[in-house]
Amino acid sequence: MRFFTAFTLTALFAVVSAHFQLQFPPPRGAFVEDQEPNFCDGYDSVASNRTSFPLNNGIISLNSEHPQWTAAVFITNVSNPTSFDNFTQITPFFQENIEGSFCMAFDLSQTNATGLTNGENVTIQFLFDGGDGQLFQCADLTLDTSANVSSQSCTNATSSSSSGAIGTPVPAVGSLLGLTAGLVGVAFALL
Ligand SMILES: *[C@@H]1O[C@H](CO)[C@@H](O)[C@H](O)[C@H]1NC(C)=O
Ligand SMILES: *[C@@H]1O[C@H](CO)[C@@H](O)[C@H](O)[C@H]1NC(C)=O
Ligand SMILES: *[C@@H]1O[C@H](CO)[C@@H](O)[C@H](O)[C@H]1NC(C)=O
Ligand SMILES: *[C@@H]1O[C@H](CO)[C@@H](O)[C@H](O)[C@H]1NC(C)=O
Ligand SMILES: *[C@@H]1O[C@H](CO)[C@@H](O)[C@H](O)[C@H]1NC(C)=O
Ligand SMILES: *[C@@H]1O[C@H](CO)[C@@H](O)[C@H](O)[C@H]1NC(C)=O
Ligand SMILES: *[C@@H]1O[C@H](CO)[C@@H](O)[C@H](O)[C@H]1NC(C)=O
Repeated sequence: MRFFTAFTLTALFAVVSAHFQLQFPPPRGAFVEDQEPNFCDGYDSVASNRTSFPLNNGIISLNSEHPQWTAAVFITNVSNPTSFDNFTQITPFFQENIEGSFCMAFDLSQTNATGLTNGENVTIQFLFDGGDGQLFQCADLTLDTSANVSSQSCTNATSSSSSGAIGTPVPAVGSLLGLTAGLVGVAFALL
Protein backbone atom coordinates (compact mmCIF):
# COMPACT_ATOMS: atom_id res chain seq x y z
CA MET A 1 0.00 0.00 0.00
CA ARG A 2 2.75 2.41 0.90
CA PHE A 3 4.59 1.54 -2.30
CA PHE A 4 1.46 2.13 -4.33
CA THR A 5 1.00 5.59 -2.85
CA ALA A 6 4.58 6.56 -3.54
CA PHE A 7 4.30 5.33 -7.11
CA THR A 8 1.09 7.26 -7.67
CA LEU A 9 2.62 10.50 -6.41
CA THR A 10 5.71 10.00 -8.54
CA ALA A 11 3.60 9.37 -11.62
CA LEU A 12 1.46 12.42 -10.93
CA PHE A 13 4.53 14.60 -10.47
CA ALA A 14 5.96 13.39 -13.76
CA VAL A 15 2.75 14.29 -15.56
CA VAL A 16 2.11 17.72 -14.08
CA SER A 17 5.68 18.82 -14.76
CA ALA A 18 5.13 18.55 -18.54
CA HIS A 19 4.37 21.80 -20.32
CA PHE A 20 4.42 23.53 -23.69
CA GLN A 21 6.37 26.47 -25.05
CA LEU A 22 4.93 28.78 -27.67
CA GLN A 23 7.57 29.44 -30.35
CA PHE A 24 5.80 31.63 -32.90
CA PRO A 25 4.38 34.12 -32.47
CA PRO A 26 6.79 34.56 -29.54
CA PRO A 27 5.24 34.78 -26.09
CA ARG A 28 5.22 37.84 -23.85
CA GLY A 29 8.40 36.82 -22.14
CA ALA A 30 10.63 33.88 -21.34
CA PHE A 31 8.74 30.70 -20.50
CA VAL A 32 8.08 30.38 -16.75
CA GLU A 33 7.20 26.78 -15.99
CA ASP A 34 5.56 27.36 -12.60
CA GLN A 35 3.37 30.16 -13.94
CA GLU A 36 2.02 28.41 -17.03
CA PRO A 37 -1.27 27.32 -15.37
CA ASN A 38 -1.99 31.03 -14.91
CA PHE A 39 -3.23 33.76 -17.21
CA CYS A 40 -0.63 34.46 -19.92
CA ASP A 41 2.03 32.31 -18.16
CA GLY A 42 2.04 34.85 -15.33
CA TYR A 43 2.73 37.84 -17.60
CA ASP A 44 -0.04 40.22 -16.62
CA SER A 45 1.10 43.19 -18.69
CA VAL A 46 1.12 43.61 -22.43
CA ALA A 47 4.57 43.43 -24.05
CA SER A 48 5.91 46.59 -25.69
CA ASN A 49 7.65 44.56 -28.43
CA ARG A 50 4.72 43.27 -30.49
CA THR A 51 5.11 40.77 -33.31
CA SER A 52 3.86 41.68 -36.79
CA PHE A 53 1.38 38.99 -37.70
CA PRO A 54 -0.57 38.53 -40.94
CA LEU A 55 -4.35 38.41 -41.23
CA ASN A 56 -3.94 35.60 -43.78
CA ASN A 57 -1.48 32.70 -43.93
CA GLY A 58 -0.17 32.96 -40.39
CA ILE A 59 1.21 30.07 -38.38
CA ILE A 60 1.38 29.07 -34.74
CA SER A 61 4.31 26.90 -33.69
CA LEU A 62 5.12 25.45 -30.30
CA ASN A 63 7.00 22.75 -28.47
CA SER A 64 4.84 20.14 -26.76
CA GLU A 65 6.11 18.07 -23.85
CA HIS A 66 3.00 15.88 -24.05
CA PRO A 67 2.34 13.15 -26.66
CA GLN A 68 -1.38 13.95 -26.81
CA TRP A 69 -3.07 17.24 -26.06
CA THR A 70 -5.99 19.51 -26.79
CA ALA A 71 -5.81 23.22 -27.43
CA ALA A 72 -7.75 26.29 -28.44
CA VAL A 73 -6.89 29.85 -29.43
CA PHE A 74 -8.38 33.00 -27.91
CA ILE A 75 -8.02 36.63 -29.01
CA THR A 76 -8.64 40.12 -27.71
CA ASN A 77 -8.14 43.63 -29.00
CA VAL A 78 -8.21 45.09 -25.47
CA SER A 79 -5.01 47.14 -25.36
CA ASN A 80 -3.81 45.73 -22.03
CA PRO A 81 -5.85 42.58 -21.34
CA THR A 82 -5.62 41.50 -17.73
CA SER A 83 -8.30 38.83 -17.51
CA PHE A 84 -9.62 35.75 -19.31
CA ASP A 85 -12.86 37.79 -19.52
CA ASN A 86 -11.18 40.04 -22.09
CA PHE A 87 -10.61 37.13 -24.54
CA THR A 88 -12.87 35.47 -27.08
CA GLN A 89 -12.39 31.88 -28.24
CA ILE A 90 -11.83 31.86 -32.01
CA THR A 91 -11.04 28.20 -32.74
CA PRO A 92 -12.79 25.05 -31.58
CA PHE A 93 -10.90 22.87 -29.14
CA PHE A 94 -8.74 20.55 -31.26
CA GLN A 95 -6.66 17.50 -30.46
CA GLU A 96 -3.13 16.65 -31.58
CA ASN A 97 -0.93 13.60 -31.08
CA ILE A 98 2.46 15.29 -31.48
CA GLU A 99 5.24 15.59 -28.91
CA GLY A 100 8.04 18.03 -29.69
CA SER A 101 7.82 20.58 -32.49
CA PHE A 102 4.32 21.36 -33.68
CA CYS A 103 3.26 23.93 -36.24
CA MET A 104 -0.14 24.66 -37.69
CA ALA A 105 -1.53 27.02 -40.27
CA PHE A 106 -3.32 29.85 -38.48
CA ASP A 107 -5.27 32.02 -40.85
CA LEU A 108 -7.04 34.62 -38.74
CA SER A 109 -9.49 35.29 -41.57
CA GLN A 110 -10.61 31.64 -41.32
CA THR A 111 -11.31 31.80 -37.59
CA ASN A 112 -14.36 33.16 -35.82
CA ALA A 113 -12.56 36.40 -35.03
CA THR A 114 -14.58 39.36 -36.29
CA GLY A 115 -13.73 42.97 -37.02
CA LEU A 116 -9.95 42.53 -37.23
CA THR A 117 -8.22 45.28 -39.18
CA ASN A 118 -4.78 45.88 -40.64
CA GLY A 119 -2.62 47.72 -38.09
CA GLU A 120 -4.74 46.67 -35.12
CA ASN A 121 -3.05 45.56 -31.91
CA VAL A 122 -4.33 42.24 -30.60
CA THR A 123 -3.25 39.60 -28.11
CA ILE A 124 -3.73 35.89 -28.66
CA GLN A 125 -3.81 33.43 -25.80
CA PHE A 126 -3.03 29.78 -26.50
CA LEU A 127 -4.67 27.22 -24.21
CA PHE A 128 -2.89 23.85 -24.06
CA ASP A 129 -4.07 20.83 -22.08
CA GLY A 130 -2.06 17.63 -22.05
CA GLY A 131 -4.59 15.97 -19.75
CA ASP A 132 -3.25 17.30 -16.47
CA GLY A 133 -4.52 20.85 -16.45
CA GLN A 134 -4.76 23.90 -18.62
CA LEU A 135 -1.67 25.92 -19.51
CA PHE A 136 -1.54 29.35 -21.10
CA GLN A 137 0.82 31.56 -23.07
CA CYS A 138 0.07 34.90 -24.70
CA ALA A 139 1.55 36.70 -27.68
CA ASP A 140 1.07 40.42 -28.31
CA LEU A 141 0.66 41.18 -32.01
CA THR A 142 0.19 43.98 -34.47
CA LEU A 143 -1.84 42.76 -37.43
CA ASP A 144 -0.05 43.50 -40.68
CA THR A 145 -1.27 42.34 -44.07
CA SER A 146 2.32 42.51 -45.36
CA ALA A 147 3.78 40.34 -42.58
CA ASN A 148 5.31 37.18 -44.04
CA VAL A 149 5.90 34.23 -41.73
CA SER A 150 7.61 32.06 -44.37
CA SER A 151 11.01 32.48 -42.69
CA GLN A 152 9.70 30.96 -39.44
CA SER A 153 10.51 27.37 -38.63
CA CYS A 154 7.32 25.33 -39.12
CA THR A 155 7.63 21.58 -38.64
CA ASN A 156 5.89 18.74 -36.88
CA ALA A 157 8.07 16.38 -34.87
CA THR A 158 6.10 13.32 -35.93
CA SER A 159 3.39 12.63 -38.44
CA SER A 160 -0.17 12.64 -37.22
CA SER A 161 -3.26 10.93 -38.49
CA SER A 162 -5.31 14.06 -38.16
CA SER A 163 -5.54 16.73 -40.83
CA GLY A 164 -6.89 20.21 -41.35
CA ALA A 165 -5.52 23.66 -40.75
CA ILE A 166 -6.28 23.73 -37.07
CA GLY A 167 -6.19 20.04 -36.35
CA THR A 168 -9.04 17.77 -35.46
CA PRO A 169 -11.95 19.43 -33.71
CA VAL A 170 -12.80 17.80 -30.41
CA PRO A 171 -16.39 16.52 -30.54
CA ALA A 172 -17.67 18.28 -27.44
CA VAL A 173 -16.47 20.16 -24.45
CA GLY A 174 -18.15 17.44 -22.41
CA SER A 175 -15.53 14.89 -23.45
CA LEU A 176 -12.79 17.34 -22.59
CA LEU A 177 -14.24 17.69 -19.15
CA GLY A 178 -14.18 13.93 -18.90
CA LEU A 179 -10.54 13.88 -19.93
CA THR A 180 -9.50 16.25 -17.21
CA ALA A 181 -12.22 15.60 -14.66
CA GLY A 182 -11.23 16.08 -11.06
CA LEU A 183 -8.16 18.10 -11.87
CA VAL A 184 -9.25 21.05 -13.89
CA GLY A 185 -12.92 20.66 -14.73
CA VAL A 186 -13.74 23.79 -12.82
CA ALA A 187 -11.37 25.83 -14.96
CA PHE A 188 -13.74 25.56 -17.91
CA ALA A 189 -16.35 27.48 -15.98
CA LEU A 190 -13.84 30.30 -15.58
CA LEU A 191 -13.41 30.57 -19.35
C1 LIG B 1 10.12 40.92 -26.00
O1 LIG B 1 11.21 41.14 -25.13
C2 LIG B 1 11.30 40.17 -24.10
C3 LIG B 1 12.40 40.60 -23.17
O2 LIG B 1 13.56 40.88 -23.88
C4 LIG B 1 11.58 38.79 -24.72
O3 LIG B 1 11.67 37.81 -23.72
C5 LIG B 1 10.44 38.47 -25.66
O4 LIG B 1 10.72 37.25 -26.33
C6 LIG B 1 10.26 39.57 -26.69
N1 LIG B 1 9.04 39.31 -27.43
C7 LIG B 1 8.99 39.48 -28.72
C8 LIG B 1 7.66 39.24 -29.32
O5 LIG B 1 9.95 39.81 -29.41
C1 LIG C 1 0.07 49.23 -30.87
O1 LIG C 1 1.06 48.92 -29.92
C2 LIG C 1 2.25 49.67 -30.11
C3 LIG C 1 3.31 49.13 -29.17
O2 LIG C 1 2.74 48.67 -27.98
C4 LIG C 1 1.96 51.13 -29.88
O3 LIG C 1 3.14 51.91 -30.06
C5 LIG C 1 0.90 51.57 -30.88
O4 LIG C 1 0.54 52.93 -30.62
C6 LIG C 1 -0.33 50.71 -30.80
N1 LIG C 1 -1.20 51.00 -31.91
C7 LIG C 1 -2.48 51.25 -31.75
C8 LIG C 1 -3.25 51.49 -33.00
O5 LIG C 1 -3.00 51.30 -30.63
C1 LIG D 1 -11.20 43.09 -19.07
O1 LIG D 1 -11.71 42.19 -18.09
C2 LIG D 1 -11.82 42.79 -16.81
C3 LIG D 1 -12.24 41.71 -15.83
O2 LIG D 1 -13.47 41.15 -16.18
C4 LIG D 1 -12.85 43.91 -16.88
O3 LIG D 1 -12.94 44.55 -15.61
C5 LIG D 1 -12.40 44.92 -17.90
O4 LIG D 1 -13.41 45.91 -18.06
C6 LIG D 1 -12.15 44.25 -19.25
N1 LIG D 1 -11.59 45.24 -20.16
C7 LIG D 1 -12.20 45.58 -21.28
C8 LIG D 1 -11.54 46.66 -22.06
O5 LIG D 1 -13.23 45.04 -21.67
C1 LIG E 1 -17.11 29.18 -35.29
O1 LIG E 1 -18.25 29.15 -34.46
C2 LIG E 1 -19.15 28.09 -34.78
C3 LIG E 1 -20.39 28.27 -33.95
O2 LIG E 1 -20.04 28.50 -32.61
C4 LIG E 1 -18.45 26.75 -34.53
O3 LIG E 1 -19.30 25.68 -34.86
C5 LIG E 1 -17.22 26.68 -35.39
O4 LIG E 1 -16.51 25.49 -35.08
C6 LIG E 1 -16.33 27.87 -35.14
N1 LIG E 1 -15.22 27.84 -36.06
C7 LIG E 1 -13.99 28.11 -35.68
C8 LIG E 1 -12.94 28.06 -36.75
O5 LIG E 1 -13.72 28.38 -34.53
C1 LIG F 1 -12.00 46.24 -30.70
O1 LIG F 1 -12.89 45.79 -31.72
C2 LIG F 1 -14.16 46.38 -31.64
C3 LIG F 1 -15.09 45.74 -32.65
O2 LIG F 1 -14.36 45.21 -33.72
C4 LIG F 1 -14.03 47.88 -31.87
O3 LIG F 1 -15.30 48.50 -31.76
C5 LIG F 1 -13.09 48.45 -30.81
O4 LIG F 1 -12.87 49.82 -31.08
C6 LIG F 1 -11.77 47.73 -30.81
N1 LIG F 1 -10.97 48.19 -29.68
C7 LIG F 1 -9.71 48.57 -29.81
C8 LIG F 1 -9.00 48.96 -28.55
O5 LIG F 1 -9.15 48.60 -30.90
C1 LIG G 1 6.84 35.38 -48.36
O1 LIG G 1 8.22 35.38 -48.68
C2 LIG G 1 8.61 34.27 -49.50
C3 LIG G 1 10.10 34.34 -49.72
O2 LIG G 1 10.75 34.70 -48.57
C4 LIG G 1 7.88 34.31 -50.83
O3 LIG G 1 8.19 33.17 -51.59
C5 LIG G 1 6.37 34.35 -50.58
O4 LIG G 1 5.70 34.53 -51.79
C6 LIG G 1 6.02 35.48 -49.62
N1 LIG G 1 4.59 35.38 -49.32
C7 LIG G 1 3.78 36.44 -49.30
C8 LIG G 1 2.35 36.19 -48.95
O5 LIG G 1 4.19 37.56 -49.58
C1 LIG H 1 1.16 19.35 -38.25
O1 LIG H 1 0.08 18.45 -38.05
C2 LIG H 1 -1.21 19.08 -38.12
C3 LIG H 1 -2.25 18.04 -37.90
O2 LIG H 1 -2.04 17.33 -36.75
C4 LIG H 1 -1.41 19.73 -39.46
O3 LIG H 1 -2.63 20.42 -39.47
C5 LIG H 1 -0.27 20.69 -39.75
O4 LIG H 1 -0.40 21.21 -41.03
C6 LIG H 1 1.07 19.97 -39.60
N1 LIG H 1 2.14 20.93 -39.76
C7 LIG H 1 3.07 20.80 -40.68
C8 LIG H 1 4.15 21.82 -40.69
O5 LIG H 1 3.07 19.90 -41.51
